[in-house]
Amino acid sequence: MAPGKPDNQHLPDDLVELLETRPEICVLTGAGVSAESGVPTFRDAQTGLWAKFDPLSLASPEGFAEDPATVWKWYSWRRELISRVEPNDGHRALAGMQDALPGLTLVTQNVDGLHQAAGARDVLELHGNIRRTICSRTRREIPAEWLEAHSRDHPPPSPHDPEGLARPDVVWFGEALDREVLEAALEAADRCRLCIVAGTAGTVEPAASIPRVAARAGARVVDINPEVTEIGRAADWHLEGTSATWLPRIAAALSGSPGPG
Ligand code: OAD
Repeated sequence: MAPGKPDNQHLPDDLVELLETRPEICVLTGAGVSAESGVPTFRDAQTGLWAKFDPLSLASPEGFAEDPATVWKWYSWRRELISRVEPNDGHRALAGMQDALPGLTLVTQNVDGLHQAAGARDVLELHGNIRRTICSRTRREIPAEWLEAHSRDHPPPSPHDPEGLARPDVVWFGEALDREVLEAALEAADRCRLCIVAGTAGTVEPAASIPRVAARAGARVVDINPEVTEIGRAADWHLEGTSATWLPRIAAALSGSPGPG
């Protein structure tokens, strides 16, 4: 077996050795981490969200300006889907790792809140959270009760601005990320000794730069993904398979227990 290439059951020895030193860790997650909870990823050719819909018409300010009702209905559908799903073993393993190693920074591109539902704290949500709704003009939060009193087929008018509409508090294509959240994520990447990347295709910047920033600052990088991506090719280890399989093994190695098979 090539160095750094693990078998399907066990973590590579040098990764286990690094985990046993309880290194500073920065984790970056993407849609793949929620796939095993039943939330479709974005770029899967058959079932991915963007396979059925055009991302620019559904997730951009221009798309919303052109057809607010379609965008609203699409996010309402996703919000309902997300409200029915549960965190999986991957989310739970990460929350447990944070308990074992309080300095662990968890950065996510996901807007589903499943890391927090599993018990993770201080999650850096690069792309916002679909459960929150804001005014399209003032960006002030709109309470859930306001939404419940309005139709689901159209974005309700904003209570904060006569020309504003309700919209999800997520980052759309062409919009800037929250500066403080991004800076905190980049600082954690720069500081860490191990960067764990799970379930992302790594095609959206600046999120995809996090493992590069970590590697440049001297950290090792481990990528978990059933497919090999740019991030996996550049990583010290690519663990081929799903996050709900590998993250519990990493959590077990971190806590020094034999862990799941
Ligand atoms: P993608 O859908 O682009 O990629 C998901 C990745 O997860 C793929 O590389 C899959 O191979 C992998 N994957 C699938 N199932 C998995 C599993 N069970 N365990 C581990 N990996 C698995 O999703 P993201 O990379 O998260 O942005 O996409 C990044 C951003 O692009 C999203 O946040 C979204 C999208 O456009 C916005 O909406 C702004």
